[in-house]
Amino acid sequence: MSAPEPRFDLWSPEARVDPLSLYARMRQEAPVARVLSPTQRVPMWIVSRYRDTQELLRDTRFTKDKYKLADEDRLRYFRVEEIEQIDKHMLNSDPPVHTRLRSLVSQAFTARRVEALRPRILAIAQRLLDSFPPGGNVDLLEAFAFPLPVTVIAELLGVPLEDQDRFREWTLTLVSPPHSNNLEPLRKAAIHFQQYLQDFLARRRAEPQDDLTSALIAAEQEGDRLTPVELTSMVFLLLVAGHETTVNLVTNGVWALLKHPEQLERLRGDPSLIESAVEEMLRYCGPVNHTTSRFAQQDTEFLGQVIPAGQMIMASLLSANHDPEQFPQPERLDITRSPNRHLSFGAGMHFCLGAPLARLEAMLAINLLLQRLPHMRFAVDPSMLRWRTGMLIHGLERLPIAF
Ligand code: HEM
Repeated sequence: MSAPEPRFDLWSPEARVDPLSLYARMRQEAPVARVLSPTQRVPMWIVSRYRDTQELLRDTRFTKDKYKLADEDRLRYFRVEEIEQIDKHMLNSDPPVHTRLRSLVSQAFTARRVEALRPRILAIAQRLLDSFPPGGNVDLLEAFAFPLPVTVIAELLGVPLEDQDRFREWTLTLVSPPHSNNLEPLRKAAIHFQQYLQDFLARRRAEPQDDLTSALIAAEQEGDRLTPVELTSMVFLLLVAGHETTVNLVTNGVWALLKHPEQLERLRGDPSLIESAVEEMLRYCGPVNHTTSRFAQQDTEFLGQVIPAGQMIMASLLSANHDPEQFPQPERLDITRSPNRHLSFGAGMHFCLGAPLARLEAMLAINLLLQRLPHMRFAVDPSMLRWRTGMLIHGLERLPIAF
């Protein structure tokens, strides 16, 4: 089958306001749709149905490692070479490299290890809430949802918290670049981030501490387990993945509750519902829209469509999680929904390593907010709220609340 002309503009202002209507059309009319990438307008493919997403995420014919592509294909999608010092991480690799890298950190993120962080996460959340102005207004994202997971992951890695504004800015540029052809901001952010991490690692090599980074440096020093570039890339991935997503789970989750006051009151009345409530927030308005990239190494048929060699394919988790074939009345927020096998943490071998941590942070944060702010409400007309640009993250720019 020849490649269809791109018919769906996922990056238009209309799609940013109401992506779900567009995805509903895509699931019906073009479940594997050819679209153009937002920054460089090169062809790529988006999978939008639940079942097909599950299949794609487990399909090992597609590689995560762009260095396996011919140079011209790789450069078509990634013209920022400065990124190469920080992108050799597990999410960009296939077995056996993926297996080796993931096994170096998987023990630090098991449900049991993460549970031990509960008192610390609660203390951080309490302290942030204590600093809210009494009876006032805040941007929940800025004052609570961002600093909470950033503090947790920075402490785990030993990265100085006072540098958070710097790595936040670089992360935002790298993860949610403006839809423009100018790659200069991306290039600069990659250079600064890489330099920052290399300086941090040099300090840790000289003076190891009791943190995950020092444990990784020990693995690097043992020889063949972790190269210097893999080490920098690992810390980069954990730092970025460890906060960029959970921020938006808490913010989007509160946004969803404020839009559905009956669900909010139900949860406030019975905090034990928080576990299924967070699962429903992950499904209804999860923080990751499109997965990261996968590539066809040769012409590869997927659902009757040939994905040409070198081209990029990804799935929309937001769309898969709203597929009526899987979720009855997907547009309804139901904090007791069961079963709720959403795909917000992905599937297959790249299933989110940090899922137990993200779940715990969101459960503690949201229940505490409901307890401590009994009159929490939108401080602006919710139709005025803006969603961020970029392919990966589904998140609000701000969430002003009054309480
Ligand atoms: C609500 C919060 C989070 C969401 C929705 C989320 C979502 C995801 C998704 C969808 C993937 C797979 C992407 C793909 O296959 O293309 C992923 C992978 C990953 N996530 Fe998360 N994530 C969250 C929080 C975290 C946290 C807190 C960490 C902490 C370290 C983390 C670390 C990772 C890592 C290391 C991978 C790569 C796993 C691999 O390649 O084997 N994530 N995440």
